[in-house]
Amino acid sequence: MSNAAPAGRAHWSSRWAFILVTAGSAIGLGNIWKFPYMTGTNGGSAFVLVYLACIIGIGVPLLMAETLLGRRGQENPADTMRIVAAEARASQWWQIVGYIGILGALFILSFYSVVAGWILDYTFLAMKGFAGASKESLAQTFSQLLADPVKLIAWHTAFMAINVAVVAGGVTAGIERANKIMMPALLAIVLVLIGYGFVAADMGAAFRFMFHFDFSAISSKVILSAMGHSFFTLSLGMGAIMTYGSYLGRDTSIARTCLYISVADTGIALLAGLAIFAIVFAQGLEPAAGPGLILQTLPLAFSQMPGGGVIGVLFFLLVVFAAWTSSISLIEPATAWLIERFGLRRSRAVWIVCLTTWLLGIAVALSFNDWSEVRFFGLNIFDFLDTLTTKIMMPLAGLLIALFTGWVMKRAHVEDEIGLGGGAFHLWFNVLRFLSPLAIVVIFLNVIGVIG
Ligand code: PHE
Repeated sequence: MSNAAPAGRAHWSSRWAFILVTAGSAIGLGNIWKFPYMTGTNGGSAFVLVYLACIIGIGVPLLMAETLLGRRGQENPADTMRIVAAEARASQWWQIVGYIGILGALFILSFYSVVAGWILDYTFLAMKGFAGASKESLAQTFSQLLADPVKLIAWHTAFMAINVAVVAGGVTAGIERANKIMMPALLAIVLVLIGYGFVAADMGAAFRFMFHFDFSAISSKVILSAMGHSFFTLSLGMGAIMTYGSYLGRDTSIARTCLYISVADTGIALLAGLAIFAIVFAQGLEPAAGPGLILQTLPLAFSQMPGGGVIGVLFFLLVVFAAWTSSISLIEPATAWLIERFGLRRSRAVWIVCLTTWLLGIAVALSFNDWSEVRFFGLNIFDFLDTLTTKIMMPLAGLLIALFTGWVMKRAHVEDEIGLGGGAFHLWFNVLRFLSPLAIVVIFLNVIGVIG
């Protein structure tokens, strides 16, 4: 069968284009900024172990299921769920899954863009060079940035602006092509940093911290954080994967492409973690420093390594790029919904989505300074939006996707879409029906203290 689009709806040019843009969505700040700092604040190897288990037992099967629903429905997340529910003669309430995604993606984007703004700021700092940087001076640079609402909002605005430009033009061949160059370049620089870790920092300590598994350090907090992060890093449950899947041609094996994407995503996260912790331990820094971790560690390496000036600028630029290819996928679900449900022009839909998120992002930027006392459930606005999305909305949407695909959809339709034969199909289908939903529910219950 051909990849040809049904009239009026765009499709990726090939299977590789889908792999590229979906890996572009998955690989982002989650891998390079969030994974290392979460590993640091959650005790290292315990977090890594649970994270890997969640990727395999929950993340990968769900990535396949969400892509499958998108391709079957061929619409934005809300209408996709309406269509696949109707096909299965199930309740229209399943559309809720789509709405959780559309809304959650906007919440994520509002803080994602502020953090991408930090990286933009550091790209410019890197151009001036980090000569003479010390751990004290870097800690101060970061806290000064957080204390400056004007700067934070300016960078957040700049990041949203480059997103409007791309998504308004449709997700063009330009971004597909740029991905092809930038993603391998990012991998190359991460490998350079790993090399630096071996030569000039403490790679042994980094390995021990991340892979010397200590089961006693696993707590319910670690488990919930790791599960949440496995959703975040694979872009699950937020409509991004469903929307990208809806632009996928019928001749693609969903299972295989999803596997490639997951391996690339996990690989980049582990490499980034090793590179960063090698510096943390060599310099006597605090692994549990929190969200500023990469900004307080990597500049030290850049200030010392030969060619560090150029490598530093390139590194931050590529992280901005990785964030950009992810944020595009956070904008697309709501945009597609406005276009397909209300008949808006693409450019107008993108403006509505981006202005709304921009406003929310201002509140996030202020939560580090003037509004730091504004609290929801004891959390500032930044932490609240992060917790709400990664620990609640994403697992909830994931649970519903697993239940829908595993129990509600006609099995023949699932088999027809997924492109897996025999034993592999049974394995995936049973994991999706039993293991993934059970794991999500048990982790939830455990955390709210009902059991365990
Ligand atoms: N996966 C992206 C990252 O790791 C974030 C993301 C989450 C993108 C949800 C889309 C949807 O940075």
